Amino acid sequence: MSFREVFVRILITGASGFAGQHLIRYLAAVQPEAEQHGTVFRADVSSLVSNATYHRLDLCQAEAVLQLIRELCPDVIYHLAAQSAPARSLKSPWYTLETNVRSQLNLLQSCIESNLSPRILLVTSSEVYGIVKPEELPITENHPLRPANHYSLSKITQDLMGWQYFMMHGLPVIRVRAFNHIGTGQGSDFVTIDFALQIARIEAGQQTPIMRVGNLNAQRDFTDVRDTVRAYYLLMQHGIPGECYNVATGKCHSIQELLDILLSYSTTPIHVESDPKRMRPSDIPILQGDYAKLGTLTGWQPSISFADTLRDVLHDCRQRVT
Ligand code: GDD
Repeated sequence: MSFREVFVRILITGASGFAGQHLIRYLAAVQPEAEQHGTVFRADVSSLVSNATYHRLDLCQAEAVLQLIRELCPDVIYHLAAQSAPARSLKSPWYTLETNVRSQLNLLQSCIESNLSPRILLVTSSEVYGIVKPEELPITENHPLRPANHYSLSKITQDLMGWQYFMMHGLPVIRVRAFNHIGTGQGSDFVTIDFALQIARIEAGQQTPIMRVGNLNAQRDFTDVRDTVRAYYLLMQHGIPGECYNVATGKCHSIQELLDILLSYSTTPIHVESDPKRMRPSDIPILQGDYAKLGTLTGWQPSISFADTLRDVLHDCRQRVT
């Protein structure tokens, strides 16, 4: 019997988030027989995709999490909920650590206390690798974990906690280190949407034609979120419990390149200005991932080009603005 037949009840934490909404849409298409449930903290449920049943709760509340896990008895859990912005962690270190660590602890502990052993995909981040030397690129899963900010530290803790619950309790935890993923519906805290929204507002006459930017020298490995959630699904099916997997494209682009592509799609001339408020006191210069472990196991490879993703994002931002 394949996992596809076995996995009937899915729980997605952070279901209202950017990746959560894409994942629900994708699972509805590939596993139409499955029952999808999602946890939501604050979002307006009426604005979310309709393929899931949403449960409003604070994952930091242990009792509420235990109650939900006992009620649903999920066969699989995609744990996506988190404070997901490294920039925000610089201003709110404890909030970031507490949210990310406590939520996951409650989730894993609830499974143990309910005598359940669902397959659990824990989504951490390429930020776990911190600052890497050029000769260490592309980064494999064997690279040391070196926190460069509090977000990174929270994700390393989540990663190691996943390992601990696998070792200590035999919980089938699969750890995913997701590199930057971008696409429609992402929050404006993140660079792609931030820049695309500025272009859309300028085109609509809602902003003077000046684009404000931060550090354009940083380089990131950007995956289209539709490819990212496909990787999550494949890892849920084929991932080996206890193991960790990078989700990346193997290519990196500077933020300058991202800006140039978006500007090339603009219908109006735009002047670019550096904004000191957008510069981070510490910013990882480069992240480029090696996805061979994922690719060899599942056959996954990225399918959507960077330029196409950026075109889709700008189109989406133009619609948001109007
Ligand atoms: N947000 C933002 N706004 N970033 C800017 C700007 C700007 O105006 N200008 C330059 N940047 C640079 C940042 O300094 C950073 O180097 C890069 O753009 C990407 O920033 P973000 O899009 O905010 O993402 P991130 O890399 O900090 O974090 C994302 O990727 C991680 C994986 O590496 C998030 O998706 C995390 O959740 C994820 O774990």
